[in-house]
Amino acid sequence: MIKVVGIVGSPRAGGNTEILVNEALKAAAEEGAIVELLRLCDKEIKPCDGCRSCRKTKECWIKDDFRPIFDKMVEADGIIIASPVYFGSSTPQVKALIDRAGYLSIAKGRVFENKVGGALVVARRAGQNFTLAELLFFFLHQGMIVPGSSYWNVAFGREPGEVLNDSEGIETVKNFGKKMVWIIKKLKGLV
Ligand SMILES: Cc1cc2nc3c(=O)[nH]c(=O)nc-3n(C[C@H](O)[C@H](O)[C@H](O)COP(=O)(O)O)c2cc1C
Repeated sequence: MIKVVGIVGSPRAGGNTEILVNEALKAAAEEGAIVELLRLCDKEIKPCDGCRSCRKTKECWIKDDFRPIFDKMVEADGIIIASPVYFGSSTPQVKALIDRAGYLSIAKGRVFENKVGGALVVARRAGQNFTLAELLFFFLHQGMIVPGSSYWNVAFGREPGEVLNDSEGIETVKNFGKKMVWIIKKLKGLV
């Protein structure tokens, strides 16, 4: 069984980021993966406070909605993190998640190592490449494997649904979803 989780980092439910994640997950499901979409907009994830107590306790003491999301990331073979561009960067919701997940993962013995990961990014006009790089740095830091697609996983759109007009962006994230499952199958020796 192959599990892929897609995390929507927009504070806006049903927006362009969610559409992109849905397209990538649908493509992954067509290749045989069990998929799950998680929205950060209906969760509270506080920023890392830098206490570093996770290094000793192997847990994050902050009480909010972080832990169930972290657990789903740990259970998954493939992790997609998607963000709209906010002033040239990812959203605070995404940043809080990767800071805490990344640090706790290390405390627990690098639990994301050798998983497959990838980022999807959408913006009205500019900042996609920087934001994509920001998220890819997380996956690479965690020793994860990042597949490519038919282009970089970036798309254009402002109002909810506008991203559907970017046919190349949609095609790119679909191809990414397929490639993610292909590499997971290879890694598991299923093909
Ligand atoms: C606070 C804020 C900052 C934004 N900054 C940028 C930006 O730097 N570059 C850009 O092209 N679009 C920017 N946008 C537009 C969003 O990236 C765009 O509307 C995107 O489609 C939103 O995704 P969503 O529908 O998933 O929320 C910004 C939007 C907001 C609300």
